[in-house]
Amino acid sequence: MTEPKPILRTHGLRREFVTAKPLFGAAQVVRAVDGVDLEIAEGETFAIVGESGCGKSTLARLLVRLIAPTGGEVWYGGTNIADLDEGAMRALRRELQFIFQDPFSSLNPRMSVGALIEEPLGAHGIGTSQERKARVAELLTRVGLRPDHADRYPHEFSGGQRQRIGIARALASGPKVVIGDEPVSALDVSIQAQVVNILEDLKEEFGLTLVIIAHDLAVIRHMADRVAVMYLGEIVETGTADALFARPRHPYTEALLAAIPIARTGARRASAHIEGDLPNPIAPPSGCRFHTRCRYATEICRTDHPRLTGSGAGQVACHHSDTLALTGLADADTDRPAAAKARFALYRDAQARKAKETTEP
Ligand SMILES: Nc1ncnc2c1ncn2[C@@H]1O[C@H](COP(=O)(O)OP(=O)(O)OP(=O)(O)O)[C@@H](O)[C@H]1O
Ligand code: SF4
Ligand SMILES: [Mg+2]
Repeated sequence: MTEPKPILRTHGLRREFVTAKPLFGAAQVVRAVDGVDLEIAEGETFAIVGESGCGKSTLARLLVRLIAPTGGEVWYGGTNIADLDEGAMRALRRELQFIFQDPFSSLNPRMSVGALIEEPLGAHGIGTSQERKARVAELLTRVGLRPDHADRYPHEFSGGQRQRIGIARALASGPKVVIGDEPVSALDVSIQAQVVNILEDLKEEFGLTLVIIAHDLAVIRHMADRVAVMYLGEIVETGTADALFARPRHPYTEALLAAIPIARTGARRASAHIEGDLPNPIAPPSGCRFHTRCRYATEICRTDHPRLTGSGAGQVACHHSDTLALTGLADADTDRPAAAKARFALYRDAQARKAKETTEP
């Protein structure tokens, strides 16, 4: 089998933010994304996970140049978009789209739903006015809304419906890569399942590459082909979703998995839970950035920075990954949280319905 080719690649990607100058002392620098090397294959669902503040949104925005990097490269096919000016980037935006976490604040309340979905088509000069209207109607249907919803305004819709509008808008220009920054986190669990199903279906139908940002590992358990785990601006582990959930190789991944509540009881696993808060990103710990919270830390961890090593199939940045026997989700069926289970059941039913529709005359 040939390796799928990367559609997005980053090399040494960095983004720093200078904090507002305090009353006393100097402004400080947050290294939100600090030397990230990633390869995202065409057609895969790639998830980026980690605690709040670890740099996921900054990385997501860098991947589609919604913000400019302070260093490093972002290759989309053969183009380093880190170097492109706004004009050149505008043409590429048609292919690189973003779904925001909060569908309410990302949709202009004064524009009708039809105008919102049509806007990217107009911006890229796609189709005649009539063709664009037809495309809006088609997209609304594809995300489970009705063509006549085009005349309504965002406030007339529920959170889940608004996120469907956000998805339709992101898909309007026929993108190749869609990045969803916590696309379902703001929604009720039952609605999350529907939106996840829609994203999965559309991904297949339009042959998209999907990058999903999540702090909730349960959400991406059954969506992602591969997962990257982020800690304080760095990638600490990557792997296929199956391998990473069953056999984590980085203590931070183990701790994130341990924080997923156990199905039925909702209890948290006693072992391997994560201690303390995320350290201040302005002054990250020396050596391995996770050492202040790692139950396996030794002296070398406090002084030497571990590099991310391995192949595309699985990488880890830990001095002791070869000798540690870490705990994953032992039995996905019994340990999977109820919410994720419900989501998966809905997804499976939808797939079964689809398969039936395509086999029946
Ligand atoms: N515009 C900004 N100015 C200053 N600091 C910023 C800015 N944007 C992000 N940061 C800082 O960069 C770090 C990473 O932030 P980011 O929003 O990327 O994290 P995140 O993983 O997406 O968190 P969350 O899960 O809460 O969304 C944080 O310390 C944050 O405070
Ligand atoms: S390098 Fe050391 S501190 Fe860092 S994750 Fe591995 S064992 Fe823990
Ligand atoms: Mg974020």
